[in-house]
Amino acid sequence: MKLFDVYPLFDVNIVRGKGCHVWDEQGNEYLDLYGGHAVISIGHAHPHYVECISRQVSTLGFYSNSVINSLQQQLAERLGKVCGYEDYSLFLINSGAEANENALKLASFHTGRTRVISFNKAFHGRTSLAVEATDNPKIIAPINANGHITYLPLNDIDAMKAELAKGDVCAVIIEGIQGVGGIQIPHDDFLYALRKACSEHGTILILDEIQSGYGRTGKFFAHQYSGIRPDIITVAKGIGNGFPMAGVLISPMFKPVYGQLGTTFGGNHLACSAALAVLDIFEQEHLIENAAKVGSYLLQQLKQIEGIKDVRGKGLMIGLEFEKPIKELRLRLLHEQHVFTGASGTNVLRLLPPLCLNLAEADEFLNKLRAVLM
Ligand SMILES: Cc1ncc(COP(=O)(O)O)c(C=O)c1O
Repeated sequence: MKLFDVYPLFDVNIVRGKGCHVWDEQGNEYLDLYGGHAVISIGHAHPHYVECISRQVSTLGFYSNSVINSLQQQLAERLGKVCGYEDYSLFLINSGAEANENALKLASFHTGRTRVISFNKAFHGRTSLAVEATDNPKIIAPINANGHITYLPLNDIDAMKAELAKGDVCAVIIEGIQGVGGIQIPHDDFLYALRKACSEHGTILILDEIQSGYGRTGKFFAHQYSGIRPDIITVAKGIGNGFPMAGVLISPMFKPVYGQLGTTFGGNHLACSAALAVLDIFEQEHLIENAAKVGSYLLQQLKQIEGIKDVRGKGLMIGLEFEKPIKELRLRLLHEQHVFTGASGTNVLRLLPPLCLNLAEADEFLNKLRAVLM
């Protein structure tokens, strides 16, 4: 059997990682400004993480959601405290798309409605409703195109108010910062107006913090820069530092119903031990503060480099927009400078490094970027 060929691959076989570096099978070292697509939060192969997972798998890797799992309870308590949503409840699943799928289901059970507002350039995942709410017709199969979604321009307060005033919208789903869409940031006044309009019209506000959450922007959630509180928040990526896991944070206004949501693998013992180890390291190494500090240094330095059309982002979620396509620039960064970066569309280079990136590594990246731009 061969692999189903859906990924355009870089010709590099990464076999090992440590902190913000990875190595290929020939022993070449790379600086990781991509974090395996925003997934690596605490750094590769952190010894405490390795120890916690190893201990857990040798004790109990998995049992089902039909018995008490005290690791889930510990995770809910600690996550609630660190992210500032102690009064919310946690539902655990395995991937970002699944988190959004469950968030939208909950919103629909609660409101009895079926219409959803999403935004131009949004990305919410590749399953049923998540992909329907994703603004990319190429990945929406005919079976997913069920007419639930209205797309609006991001930050257009009048358009948003007019649509919500119709009174039949189940949920609005919005990213804390759009990642795939090119590091587009919702404005604070837009988020205030959105929060207000959702409350007025009985619409559920879902913040997709799958890429922008878990400390990446220098606050636990990107929306916390605006001070609004959504009804549902979805998280994934950094939660398990590569162990597949995701969560839905649910406001107390939702009442749980036995059997309404469920999963086989979600919240298993091994995943919870990974997520608890991640939170230990967040606390011990002050990674959210580090993301804020190193991120603002990078943003400030990048803004001084000539040849970049626009630099935007918060913390360690940064987009560099260029006048022309960046495909070759990205390849040169990888093959000549040994730096992994991400991309959004054709012209935006996307930086999503592990949150432990230090100032020396930021400088190393800046020098390598300057070298390819010369
Ligand atoms: C904002 C956002 N939502 C949802 C997803 C989907 O997550 P997953 O690939 O884990 O299903 C992603 C993945 O890139 C994302 O960036």
